Amino acid sequence: MKKNNPIILGIESSCDETSAAVLRGFDVSSHIVYSQVIHEKYGGVVPELASREHLKVISEVVEKAISDSEYSLDELDGIAVTYGPGLMGALLVGLNFAKGLALSLNKPFIAVNHIESHLYAPMLEYPDLKPPFLCLLVSGGHTMLIDVQGIKKFKILGQTLDDAAGESFDKVARLLKIGYPGGPVIDKMSKNANDKFVKFPRAMLGKDSLDFSFSGLKTSVLNYINNNPIVNDDMAKDVVASFQTAVVDVLCEKMLRAVKKTKHYNLVLAGGVAANSKLRKKMKSIAQNNNINLYYPPLEYCTDNAAMVGATGVLYYNNNWFSELNINAVPNLKIDES
Ligand code: KG4
Ligand code: ZN
Repeated sequence: MKKNNPIILGIESSCDETSAAVLRGFDVSSHIVYSQVIHEKYGGVVPELASREHLKVISEVVEKAISDSEYSLDELDGIAVTYGPGLMGALLVGLNFAKGLALSLNKPFIAVNHIESHLYAPMLEYPDLKPPFLCLLVSGGHTMLIDVQGIKKFKILGQTLDDAAGESFDKVARLLKIGYPGGPVIDKMSKNANDKFVKFPRAMLGKDSLDFSFSGLKTSVLNYINNNPIVNDDMAKDVVASFQTAVVDVLCEKMLRAVKKTKHYNLVLAGGVAANSKLRKKMKSIAQNNNINLYYPPLEYCTDNAAMVGATGVLYYNNNWFSELNINAVPNLKIDES
């Protein structure tokens, strides 16, 4: 008999995290994330290395998720896996592993859109959260304002015209040679730094626009450090803090515009950049002053993880949306294409 709170195994391998989680409904029973550190020395993800690393650890990560959970493989009601967007080789590792498992265990198979799974991550913390809501999705690959009208029912209100917000953190970190991924490093360096040290531009793109552009900001940082060589750690901290505040100001302004335009007062903040402490703090204060109910996932569910894939699997399962085992990986899958 079909359950409301199915036991789902989620698997994620779209970029540089190999992750597996077991959930019963939105209750996470186990969650394993293996983050590939090999890319650090290249200042960005090397696709070929990413697939090889996934291959090395996928079975161990899934086995550990099962053994750490309260459930056995036999008790699973379904297997959910990311099939796009992401790096082709990386996606194929998780997808094929999940297909093999679903086939051998004769379990329902659920192929999940990675961007969509970011939107639902806050449900792991707030299981009663339901659409409609507005979502600001800010990750390494995407920066979007989305009107989430229902499960799999979206309207994109605005998106980046060039770099994603997370990508701009990563690129600025690479310019300053301070590590990869750039977001967490810049977040940490910016604590107690002077974010008014440099007045970097905020690209608002016209007073009603809900689109974003971060490539000009990155170029401004490059020009600034070319003209003003970084002489010590304190200066580096002040420069990155000034950059971070410029990104946060743009994200908050656009988010507020979208709230006012749509009159949606339930707002979800999702994706890797949602882990940013300055963004969370500023959003919280704006939410309080504007009667907005703000939901964001715990830090571990902001960046790529299989718990959000499992949560999406639960939602799909409850809607009877299952996939065929011949589905292929789709590297450039759009949010409204699944
Ligand atoms: O969602 P995610 O793990 O992967 C994608 O789907 O892209 O996001 C990764 C991005 C990276 O660009 C990383 O630098 C950024 O999220 N990020 C952060 C923070 N933690 C991760 N950006 C700003 N502040 C953070 N604390
Ligand atoms: Zn992601």
